[in-house]
Amino acid sequence: MQDAQHIINKIKGKALLAPMLATTDIPFRTLCARMGAALTYTEMVSAAGIVHSSSHSFRNAVFTPEERPVALQLVAADPDNTEAAARRLLPLKPDLFDINCGCPNERICEAGAGAQLLDDLPRFAAVIETAVRATDIPVAVKVRMQGRQSSTGVREIVRAATDSGALFIAIHARARDVAYHEAAQWEVLADAVAASGIPVIGNGDIFSADDAFRMREQTGVHAVMVARGSLGTPWIFRHISEGRRCGLHDGTPEPEELVALVRDHLLHMQREFGDVRALPRIRKHALWYGRRYAGFDTLRERLFATENAADVIAAAVRFFENRPRPLPPDDAEARTREDGFRERVLFWARGVLRAEG
Ligand SMILES: Cc1cc2nc3c(=O)[nH]c(=O)nc-3n(C[C@H](O)[C@H](O)[C@H](O)COP(=O)(O)O)c2cc1C
Repeated sequence: MQDAQHIINKIKGKALLAPMLATTDIPFRTLCARMGAALTYTEMVSAAGIVHSSSHSFRNAVFTPEERPVALQLVAADPDNTEAAARRLLPLKPDLFDINCGCPNERICEAGAGAQLLDDLPRFAAVIETAVRATDIPVAVKVRMQGRQSSTGVREIVRAATDSGALFIAIHARARDVAYHEAAQWEVLADAVAASGIPVIGNGDIFSADDAFRMREQTGVHAVMVARGSLGTPWIFRHISEGRRCGLHDGTPEPEELVALVRDHLLHMQREFGDVRALPRIRKHALWYGRRYAGFDTLRERLFATENAADVIAAAVRFFENRPRPLPPDDAEARTREDGFRERVLFWARGVLRAEG
């Protein structure tokens, strides 16, 4: 476990792997940490689930030393559950607890958690304060914008987080009702930096190291957080940590490294989740790796032609061993596919969760 100031220093100017439901599991966090992610996040873990001893919630909270520093993200509606969950999870000794105050999912918001907390800043503050007091582990918070034209709202949110004792605040620069096809509003991040007494982490629409450096230059954020931009392209963390201003299509690993990376990642998922449960996750990552190459449609057919995890992994590895041709950035089909991926990836993750039961 690292102390609070050490974490702040370690992430400065770097990139964090964002929390992603059904996606930032142990194999993906391990890979991204190895690639240079300065901090990794578990997917959100329900505080109520922990309090009620849900095995699903406990499973999602577990991590390995390779992923450190790691933030364990809690989704909680009230201070009591937050405190009880933080205390029960303390033996895991995460480097941080993070409170999810940005999730727009209806079920989560109806329960009063996620982005719903931003409609009730006193409760938002009480949840953070309680988490801060519950253990000696530092507490960060992840939020969205409050409303579309919302510099005022963001200032109130960062002040409340600062006063409540949060170590830093990560801001997804979109309001709750804004879909992924609308651009993130980075200008709001600059307002937040000006108003905040704690470091601000910028999140939204970083798909390349070049995007990350532009966000930092335009807004002054302490660090950036990458979600979709790491899926199928985890080497984005290497580019950012090495200060290489690569675009989306630059700096892909050499073919041998790419084959080894894909194989090791997919095999790690198979070991971690077992053949049956791993299958949808393996397919999903294989499709993300393959989406910018010629021959993608054939790859997809092969991946769905079998229910056997070993055959799916073999098909993905064979695809990359054959050195597929990267599609040029202006290729219309690749562009349409990339737009579809960016817009719908969240639904894809929910589908995986449903499939796993
Ligand atoms: C598949 C998926 C799952 C997500 N799950 C979570 C989550 O568990 N907790 C959370 O705070 N945000 C979650 N998010 C939101 C991301 O962390 C991030 O804020 C958002 O995608 C914007 O970043 P991006 O433009 O880099 O994708 C999820 C996003 C995606 C795409």
